[in-house]
Amino acid sequence: GVVREYWFDIVNTTAAPDGIERVVLSINGTVPGPTIIADWGDTVVVHVTNSMANNGTGIHFHGIRQNYTNQMDGVPSVTQCPIAPGSSYTYTWKATQYGSSWYHSHFYVQAWDGVFGGIQINGPATANYDEDLGTLTLSDWSHETADQEVLKALVSGPPTLDNGLINGTNTYNSSGTVVGSRFETDFVSGTRYRLRLINTAADTHFKFTVDNHTMEVIATDFVPIVPYATDIVAISMGQRYDIIITANATADNYWMRAIAQTACSDNDNPDDIKGIIRYDSTSTDDPTSTAWSDASTDSCDDEDMSLLVPYLAIAASDSPDEEDDFSVVIDNTGNGVLWEMGTASFVNQWDYPTVLQAYEGNDTWGSAQEVYQLPDADVWVYWVIQTTNTQPHPMHLHGHDFWILGQGTGTYDSTTSNLTLTNAPRRDVVMLPGAGYVVIAFYTDNPGAWLMHCHIAWHTSEGLAVQILERETEFVSLMDSSVLNSTCEAWDTYVSEDD
Ligand code: C2O
Repeated sequence: GVVREYWFDIVNTTAAPDGIERVVLSINGTVPGPTIIADWGDTVVVHVTNSMANNGTGIHFHGIRQNYTNQMDGVPSVTQCPIAPGSSYTYTWKATQYGSSWYHSHFYVQAWDGVFGGIQINGPATANYDEDLGTLTLSDWSHETADQEVLKALVSGPPTLDNGLINGTNTYNSSGTVVGSRFETDFVSGTRYRLRLINTAADTHFKFTVDNHTMEVIATDFVPIVPYATDIVAISMGQRYDIIITANATADNYWMRAIAQTACSDNDNPDDIKGIIRYDSTSTDDPTSTAWSDASTDSCDDEDMSLLVPYLAIAASDSPDEEDDFSVVIDNTGNGVLWEMGTASFVNQWDYPTVLQAYEGNDTWGSAQEVYQLPDADVWVYWVIQTTNTQPHPMHLHGHDFWILGQGTGTYDSTTSNLTLTNAPRRDVVMLPGAGYVVIAFYTDNPGAWLMHCHIAWHTSEGLAVQILERETEFVSLMDSSVLNSTCEAWDTYVSEDD
């Protein structure tokens, strides 16, 4: 592999992705930031400079395994000190997986003010398509800053967001005047296009669909799967689906739609987050196509587990069995407005990240939060996540992808709930059904401090996270203490971007 080098400069600025100008945070002046493109096996180097006025930052490369590179995971308060204004940090990691993902700030809710972008890692050309259209980010969008929305969430529950964006753009109906512009792409009849769908939203579960076209789903998160055909893909926050669409409709204009699933999202524009596919690139007309009849907005669906069969079957001997099990309950009843995972709410310790505590042998996290210590190498961890709350949560684990052994409503019961133990779906974000459970398994092959959390923006910032410390003695011995710099302590408070 070769070295792919990127320079990110994060700045406070203004932008109008949907025609309405507001304060944003941006990488190199654009929302989303530049797409990281690499080949499987390459080394990716990202130099991040914080040119913002007030806050720290850290860039997380979502879904990237960071095998033996925990300090490159970009999570202030866990894997590093926040990058202080005026400072830089260089992330170096190996593209050991291939497929589609995104990176985003992991400092407070900065990602949803614009600090995010796509990741495309080209692998072996096994899928049958002609042209790669690259990443397609599906976002929700507010006309206020994300921290203002968090304040509303703390006072009165999840805020209602104004709009959504496809690859950073959309129109908006501002008291009768339509402003902004839609994402557009051109199709040539007969061509097979690959698109890399990424849900980058703060709090919107989407259904993605293209009028009059079916799609073939070929990967889920970073895992190639046995292809299946569908006209709608349900995609939750942090999840990705790679799809192939054949340009086989009558030459015309068609809507692509990111439909907010209103039962579990907070979005004012459930059916107006749209892009345009044109068979005639000179056309400027809006499509008149209609959505597939089953593209309803009122449900809260996930892709069915039985569809997501890994293309490369895991050998029977690799089947997870119960070697080390944990059970964790998610709740929002015991700790005021905060969420709890286990018995505690996650609290950011920006001035004293977990890895620094581990390095100094001064573990203060114990009383403050739920930390799961996984001391052994090469064991299967078997984890039941259960919620009594009726809201679904997209649960994301850092440093691993995991096997989804079970998913359902009600209470998990090891004697009656069926588990898939052979070639189970594998991904890095799983939808925990409302008032339900998931059972996941992963292998302790990656020393580090890793976060597991709900990817709904407000929930992470309201404590819905736990940490796992995997093979602590080993990761401490591997640590590069030179990047645990002394500027850490000066950047331990969050300042509103509106100030
Ligand atoms: Cu997409 Cu903790 O991350």
